[in-house]
Amino acid sequence: MEDAQVQVLIGAQWGDEGKGRVVDVLAEDAQVVVRYQGGANAGHTVVAGGKKYVFHLLPSGMLYPNRLCIIGNGLVVDPEKLREEITGLDPSPESIGTRLVVSGSAHIVMPYHKKLDVLAEARRSRHGEGFAIGTTGRGIGPCYVDKYNRIGIRAEDLVLPDVLAGKLRLNLEEKNPILEKIYGEAPFEFEKLYEDALEWGRFIAPYVGDSMSEIDAAFTSGKKILFEGAQGTLLDVDHGTYPFVTSSSCVTGGCCTGGAISPGRIGRVIGVAKAYCTRVGEGPFPTELKDSTGDLLRKNGAEFGVTTGRPRRCGWLDVVALGYSVKVNGLDSIALTKLDVLSGFDELRVCVAYDIDGKRRDAFPGSAAALGRVTPVYRSFKPWSEDISGCRRVSDLPEAARDYVAFIEESASAKVGLIGVGPGREDTIRIL
Ligand code: GDP
Ligand code: IMO
Ligand code: MG
Repeated sequence: MEDAQVQVLIGAQWGDEGKGRVVDVLAEDAQVVVRYQGGANAGHTVVAGGKKYVFHLLPSGMLYPNRLCIIGNGLVVDPEKLREEITGLDPSPESIGTRLVVSGSAHIVMPYHKKLDVLAEARRSRHGEGFAIGTTGRGIGPCYVDKYNRIGIRAEDLVLPDVLAGKLRLNLEEKNPILEKIYGEAPFEFEKLYEDALEWGRFIAPYVGDSMSEIDAAFTSGKKILFEGAQGTLLDVDHGTYPFVTSSSCVTGGCCTGGAISPGRIGRVIGVAKAYCTRVGEGPFPTELKDSTGDLLRKNGAEFGVTTGRPRRCGWLDVVALGYSVKVNGLDSIALTKLDVLSGFDELRVCVAYDIDGKRRDAFPGSAAALGRVTPVYRSFKPWSEDISGCRRVSDLPEAARDYVAFIEESASAKVGLIGVGPGREDTIRIL
């Protein structure tokens, strides 16, 4: 997996596939790690040296000294969360120094974005079933709306007091009437928000830079660059289960705009997929198990959100969805995580086709409504009972686990290049 100069790693399902831990493994061979979309809605876990780290905004390569870590222009950055993360990782932010670059073009999540996110979610919920998205409340959607409406505040604006004041006034002129008249909430005071934003600017200033030039210079000098996707293909604003998606481009293509890399420079695309499926928030999920098997997956896989603490919905692996992900992203290989979680189940199932309105379909439907009407067509697999967490080669795995992996490769039309058999850095089978 490590031979390409530029690798892009994306989530191949509904997020939380284990991207952080795979980035951590691959970052050993990279000099630059770049996040390119999303914001603090992400929660990427890395377990190294027996310690658990959760990254919301910082790239998961941050644990290695001397890696250049970049927060690309495609992100929406909550400055408070960024500060928390930087100081949590290292008590003296200065010591991170030139290791971290925050693109000046990244958009800033303002407190009114978070407030509007939560209020809009509550409003959708009041409309009854089928409207709530179950957002993380991190202000992601409202911040991207402002970006595309061309009124957003960018990281570069935080360090220019006059520009900041003008943009903040423009925004409050619009946000405050919405808060007061539509939601009956208190308006934001300009002075307080301006002071806070100037303070964020002072903190962020040493990191703000030109990510495009940094990435280009790294590429030209032959450095290996790893792009770290957030969320997952099925949460992509275009290719996911719209409207039950996030507000950014989580697929490979998002990396070209949000990470400032030309498509021709991308050498390899890796999709991270769990050996089963999970989803947080609302939206169709054909293989969801609302029974004791689903509970067991949640318990054995510790499936609780690292950003919101919500229990994740759990279900069997869906190779129709995975095959779709392989195509949309042009996956060269799959990093299959959490295979160890399937040890000890009485039965294992994989969804191999969909039954929609009595018709069998092998392709993932473009519409969330159609996906909501799916009855999964399952194939059963021989379970295994062995603890596989100590396996380091494919040949160490029980035959039934090897067959399970081989079936995934065949049905999704992509090689499995890495297998996760536990949360730790070392709990990894490297194949490609
Ligand atoms: P991400 O958002 O894609 O980075 O994934 P999360 O960090 O939100 O969720 C993945 C969870 O699974 C984390 O708690 C990881 O520590 C854990 N994990 C990752 N890979 C494995 C694995 O192979 N086996 C087990 N048991 N846990 C894993
Ligand atoms: P990582 O990077 C799983 C989900 C939310 C909600 C929908 C929209 O850790 O895989 P948003 O706050 O983005 O507007 O919420 O997307 N969601 C995630 N689910 N993992 C994530 O990130 C997610 N980020 C957002 O639960 O359904
Ligand atoms: Mg996560």
